[in-house]
Amino acid sequence: MSKPFVLAHLSDPHLGPLPRLGIRELASKRLFGYINWRRSRRRLHQRDALDAITRDLHGRQPDHVAVTGDLVNIALPAEFAHARHWLETLGRPADVSVVPGNHDAYVAAAALHRDRHWSPYMSGDAQEGMSCAGAFPYLRRRGPVALIGVSTAIATPPFMATGRAGERQIACVANMLDDLRKENVFRVVMIHHPPLPSARHKCLIDAAAFQRVLAAVGAELVIHGHDHVHSLVWITGNGSRVPVIGVPSASAAATAKQRAGAYNLYCVDGGPGAWNCEMVSRGLRPSGAVAELNRFALSW
Ligand SMILES: [Fe+2]
Repeated sequence: MSKPFVLAHLSDPHLGPLPRLGIRELASKRLFGYINWRRSRRRLHQRDALDAITRDLHGRQPDHVAVTGDLVNIALPAEFAHARHWLETLGRPADVSVVPGNHDAYVAAAALHRDRHWSPYMSGDAQEGMSCAGAFPYLRRRGPVALIGVSTAIATPPFMATGRAGERQIACVANMLDDLRKENVFRVVMIHHPPLPSARHKCLIDAAAFQRVLAAVGAELVIHGHDHVHSLVWITGNGSRVPVIGVPSASAAATAKQRAGAYNLYCVDGGPGAWNCEMVSRGLRPSGAVAELNRFALSW
């Protein structure tokens, strides 16, 4: 019997500490984010928690790791370089796939630094003749799995954490999912904002359009971050059932049970038309140890 393909998913590490800020950098939305970090976020997101999670993840020897955004906090240039070093501890660009979150697009200038430092982790396979112009969505094939990386990261006004996939990207995702369905591969969509209804200040603006595509062409799995909690919602339609699964912040301190740092493992087995996928959630206990939280089989 062949070994299952194991995909690990973690999200929202919000790497700290924040570097020193200049006056010019504070004269923007970053000021609000900086105050927020000093007041609460720096206590919520702990490097010790993240290191415990990634140590445990490495121990499981996944075949691939997906990171669904919010690696940084207020998008200072030095944060992107720091996050690149962290990514290198996680794995080689070929083994780790990243999509950006709203904090990685905190101000408009962030895209430049993000692309400069992270692009090897956010690009499709060279042999994939991209039918769509632009970096996103990208497509990577690993074993029986096809990974589609979507960007919903846009700069927004203060107190807003919304995202947008955009018409072009949604059309590309629809084409990719449809083509891949004919190839009978296990299709995974990686996205920061959940393509689901949400509060106005933090929603995916075009969630309804994205959801319609998922319902029409299907996907075996959608993984996301953003909400910092465990979640599972099924999108149904046109004979397909698509599990949309969120994970808490990987760096959340083990103070509140529901929000403590965690990650998910997906063990993909079987074959076209008869996939098996066992999901295992592992997370921080109040003791600081990482243990299994939940385990169940997805069935479509
Ligand atoms: Fe986040």
